[in-house]
Amino acid sequence: MKQILIIIFLILLYIFFIYQHEIFILTTNIPKLLIWSYQLKDKKAFKKSRNLIEKTGMQGYFNSIQDNHIKKYFAPFYKHGYNIKKWDPNITDYKLYDKKNSISELINNFTTLTNIFGQWKADSLFRTSYEKRGEDNKLKEYYLYPLSKEYLPNYRNVIKNYLEDTITTGNHILLDLIHKITLDLLYLLHFGVKASEKDYEECIYFIDAVRHYYYGDIYNEHVIRQILNLKHFHRRHIDYIEELGIRENCIVGLWLKQGNLNKEQIFIEFIHNILGVSINWSNLTYTYLLKLTNNKVSRIPDKEESNDSNMERQKYIYECFRFICPATIIGSSLKDPSMWGLKKGKYQIVHDLKYITRLKEFFGEDAGKFNPQRFDKYHDNISTENTNNGESGNNGESANKGESGNNEGGKCPFYNSKKGAKVPCGLNVNEKKGYVPFGEGYRRCPGEFLSMIFMEEFADIIKYKDFTISLKDNKSVRYRYIWDFIEGNYEITIRN
Ligand code: HEM
Repeated sequence: MKQILIIIFLILLYIFFIYQHEIFILTTNIPKLLIWSYQLKDKKAFKKSRNLIEKTGMQGYFNSIQDNHIKKYFAPFYKHGYNIKKWDPNITDYKLYDKKNSISELINNFTTLTNIFGQWKADSLFRTSYEKRGEDNKLKEYYLYPLSKEYLPNYRNVIKNYLEDTITTGNHILLDLIHKITLDLLYLLHFGVKASEKDYEECIYFIDAVRHYYYGDIYNEHVIRQILNLKHFHRRHIDYIEELGIRENCIVGLWLKQGNLNKEQIFIEFIHNILGVSINWSNLTYTYLLKLTNNKVSRIPDKEESNDSNMERQKYIYECFRFICPATIIGSSLKDPSMWGLKKGKYQIVHDLKYITRLKEFFGEDAGKFNPQRFDKYHDNISTENTNNGESGNNGESANKGESGNNEGGKCPFYNSKKGAKVPCGLNVNEKKGYVPFGEGYRRCPGEFLSMIFMEEFADIIKYKDFTISLKDNKSVRYRYIWDFIEGNYEITIRN
């Protein structure tokens, strides 16, 4: 009898050890959510807003907010949230808005394995407060190392060769083609090989969870599938990282070479980069192709060996990102609720970036149209390691202001821009007021240069293609993409 009890105990211990993450969610997060909804004063309104978002999509919900206004909303696990649909000059001021608690608990559940006490295996740049990044945004430097200027030409070649081989004649379901391109590139750029069938299938689980978590049932089937799959996904990718070792031709190999991020940190950055590479690039290319066929976007200027040509192309790329604005919102938490006259607690803040990129005060009367010439004078707003004179912009609240050791014109291999963005030397950021498709300040997107290269190569290849986009079998399929509804049944026919 005693032996049986010991065996049962050992089995339970094993189950307990293996399923720590799931047990934590089941025993802590779900009860936390129940308490949250029990305490919620206006349950009806909560349900109503989730239902509204279900109908309209997240973008539709934002569109329904009056311009230049802030709207209170219900964010599970938070006291509540505020959608900010107005220009906020302090948008990335770390003293007001925090990256800690910026990502909802739900997304953390499906990206980050926890132990039974809820401790994460590792944290990611994406949700790390400025103060926790090390002196002068050190963590960002670690992250940016493989994205430094010297490594970018290699990624350009990888992207160019891959796109040339993949965008070929034939009929393709547009969304399938875009997912294939962005997921293959995600793996090629991180690990130097294309996504396997399994990688592809499981990244789609992740993307499905991101598509479905913010409306209807909170722990819905997509979210649960991703939570249950996380362990397998994690194990396989830890193996990839271990097997890969130090390499100079891909992002993970370079993180390993640099030696400042451990393999758990690399895993977390990778899974979050599904958002950056696959989801954002999918939003970008889907919209770009449709706007091209509707003549709402012109084709990219030719590449010639001249400064003028380079400038024309640069203007074009800035305008693509401004006009499309693939990541339409950013999330933060409120650093000190008392500054807003609020009680203590966790508050979620969402800034609407797309709204900012459409403001006439920054982009003129034709802000709703595609017009690269609006960036004619982009040099006036460029920060380089030479132009940065150490003064902080961002309303005097820049993250790099004095206290964090300003670079005084740049201390390579990285410098701080005028608005406090950490940038690899030799690369420039456009800090025109309102140009926020990649955010700004200390948390500006480190994937910006890679994304501009991708955009340029994609636009170059598509420029000479004869293609049309139409509904397959004339049937429309409303497809919920990350923030908006899109057409799921478009077929692209490429003729040459
Ligand atoms: C169309 C392409 C992309 C767009 C529009 C985009 C947009 C953004 C935006 C708006 C932010 C700021 C978020 C904030 O302030 O909270 C951001 C941050 C970030 N992005 Fe991207 N992104 C893109 C591609 C990428 C790629 C390719 C990667 C990785 C290779 C990446 C990795 C990140 C990371 C790690 C952060 C967090 C930075 C920090 O907090 O310091 N993104 N991105």
